[in-house]
Formats: sequence, structure tokens, C-alpha cells
Amino acid sequence: MKIVAPLIALFASASAFAPASVSSRQNMALNAEDVPLANGSMSFNRVCREWRCKYEGDKATSESLEAISKVVDEYLPDLKKLSDGVKVNRLVCGGCLDFKLMTTVPLEDFGPWEESGYAPEKDFLEKIKAIPGVSQVETQTITNMEI
Ligand SMILES: *[C@@H]1O[C@H](CO)[C@@H](O)[C@H](O)[C@H]1NC(C)=O
Repeated sequence: MKIVAPLIALFASASAFAPASVSSRQNMALNAEDVPLANGSMSFNRVCREWRCKYEGDKATSESLEAISKVVDEYLPDLKKLSDGVKVNRLVCGGCLDFKLMTTVPLEDFGPWEESGYAPEKDFLEKIKAIPGVSQVETQTITNMEI
């Protein structure tokens, strides 16, 4: 499967990329479609794209954080349409001034999203980069399992 090639490179387990069944959508702890990690002691079937940055000011009143929230509101409906199984987590650290938006989709929906450049990632990142006080805008792809 071409669309998951980058993941295969990362996690090196092509045999796990069998066509997904309905049961894989139920986020079972372990099933036939899970990709093993750590000699089988862990596995994953959900992948997250994280968008993160630093904001400035006090967490309770920060203007940059408020501006970020408006960009999130703008793009959240698009993210919710990515997959029936999508989960979006918003993380804010008041001490280190981290903001993170973590969008996690089932493995079978990750390939098409990756191919699209994680739309609407480009637009989202451009908008938050333009906010005064926002810095260190970064992204990361990481598996994300609830255990
Ligand atoms: C990896 O798993 C196999 C099968 O459970 C086990 O025999 C082996 O000792 C494990 N390797 C390590 C380095 O723990």
C-alpha cells in the first residue's frame, strides 16, 4: 500500500497493513491490524498528527492563546470530518506556555490524510505563525494509543 509507505519506513512492519476490518474501528487493545512495536510488547492502530507552539502571556488572560483558540475553532469542523474515529485533543501548559493540538485517527484513515499533507495543516500553521507572541511552531507524527 503506497499510502502508508512512510509509516512502514518508520515502524517496519508491512504485514500488519492488511485491509482494515470493521472491528478495527472499535479501538480494541490488540487485534490483527495492530502494528507491533518493541518486540511485540506494544502495538498501535491509531496515529496522531500534533501541531504545537509556544504562546506568551499569562495562561488565564493570554491574547496569543485566545487568538490560537479562534484558529482552532475555525478548523475544528474540518478535523472532525477526517474520520469517524477521529479524536482531537487540545493541550495547554500554563507553566511552560505550550499549546498543542493533537488529532488522532485510526491507521486506515491516516494514509489518505498524510497524502493530503494533513490538510488543513498548512493553513492552520500559517495562521498561528502570524499571531504576535506565537513561536516555535512545530509538527510531529506520533502513534497515540489509549491503554
Ligand atoms: C522478543 O520476544 C520473543 C518472543 O516473546 C522472546 O523470546 C525474546 O526474548 C524477546 N526479545 C527480547 C530482547 O526481549
